Amino acid sequence: MSGTNMNALVLDPATRIVTLETISLPSPGPFELLVRAEAISLNPIDPLYVQHPLATTKRTIGSDFAGTVVSLGNAVPKSTSISIGDRVSGFLQGACSVNERPGAFSEYLVIPWDLVWKIPESVSIEQAAGVSLVALTAAQSIFYRLGLRTPFEYDEETALAEHPEWANNRKGTHAEPINVFIYGSSTAVGLFAAQMIRVSAKVTGQKFRLFGAASKARWEMLKAEPYGYEHLVDYRDDGWAERVVELTGSERMHYAYDCISEGSSVEKVSSLLAGGGKAAIVRSRAGGAWTAGHLPVEPIYGAVWEGLGEEVEYQGFTIPRSPAARDFAVQFYRWLSSAVGSAIKPVPIRLMPGGLEKVVQDGFHLLGSGKMEDRDVTRAEEWMRPVSAEKLVYKL
Ligand SMILES: NC(=O)c1ccc[n+]([C@@H]2O[C@H](COP(=O)([O-])OP(=O)(O)OC[C@H]3O[C@@H](n4cnc5c(N)ncnc54)[C@H](OP(=O)(O)O)[C@@H]3O)[C@@H](O)[C@H]2O)c1
Repeated sequence: MSGTNMNALVLDPATRIVTLETISLPSPGPFELLVRAEAISLNPIDPLYVQHPLATTKRTIGSDFAGTVVSLGNAVPKSTSISIGDRVSGFLQGACSVNERPGAFSEYLVIPWDLVWKIPESVSIEQAAGVSLVALTAAQSIFYRLGLRTPFEYDEETALAEHPEWANNRKGTHAEPINVFIYGSSTAVGLFAAQMIRVSAKVTGQKFRLFGAASKARWEMLKAEPYGYEHLVDYRDDGWAERVVELTGSERMHYAYDCISEGSSVEKVSSLLAGGGKAAIVRSRAGGAWTAGHLPVEPIYGAVWEGLGEEVEYQGFTIPRSPAARDFAVQFYRWLSSAVGSAIKPVPIRLMPGGLEKVVQDGFHLLGSGKMEDRDVTRAEEWMRPVSAEKLVYKL
């Protein structure tokens, strides 16, 4: 940064080229914080919308950040516990939407004061950068949409008024264990989803049996704390779905979460459901990532952007502004401020060499530009190995 300028990674949608540019420092609106970003983490969505831009104007890219509060807007409530110098983490939308809002991959950014969580002392800024977007994605699916009990209060009544169809997802507490299957257990989203289920079990005393699909190399990690899978199958084996059925017998799955949602995965995951079972997915049918013939029940899709509380134009459809989704994000982040590092472990991180200037050349290369199956890493450097059960993090 120099004076009133800073470095930012800016996308020109006309050329699909991202460059490190010097742009003006943002100033916080009345309800916003100005944050100096110290670390960022990458999400598949970041390179996806560089290759397939939705934005039509030049835009700072990127979602996840962690940094230090520099100043507070003049209407930020005096009662907030956030003050200048605090370490906070959150996410922005950037070029993943037609909406005119800058993303996070810049030296300074502004964010609503209540859409960040304070980073506990035991958690590093690099670990914190890898939490906000994926943890909220998992929490929205497991708690907000599928209805498992939360360790925090939120306005569930308004959420169910917005989505009456979700009322049936809520199964209450039972003497018998509830079976849950997570496909893509080693994705960053999956690592947080398993932890949300464990947290819910602690709140209610409900027993869960957790089943998952990941490469064999990750099984030991996933069976241990804080994930606690009972059984895992390897998604590379053609018969993985049949293997899951063998493991559960006639019981099947009460809930399933497909953290990949590509190709045939949604159909296979849905086939594991018990009668009345519910499934959540991470990619929309409309986006075309997956196709399916008969599904026993339409899986529930949602976009993490809903948590930002703005109308979002994304993937050819409009996600309406949702006060309930925003309230859920606010309450979840408030809880994370004390839970990360204790009840919730940050996922492992791979600290990438270089700063903003290396994000596209290395990080985006690792994540590819679309489907998981298209990730094709051909470079030999140690930090360019395939991404597995971890977040890619850059220090600024
Ligand atoms: N709807 C939303 O709002 C939202 C929000 C965030 C993310 N997403 C989407 O969720 C997906 C996961 O995101 P992420 O950041 O968690 O991904 P990620 O951590 O980058 O995913 C990497 C993992 O994917 C696993 N994997 C790759 N291909 C697989 C397959 N065919 N079947 C099962 N596992 C496979 C790998 O497992 P192994 O190492 O075990 O082989 C690896 O651990 C992405 O498509 C992302 O765009 C959606």
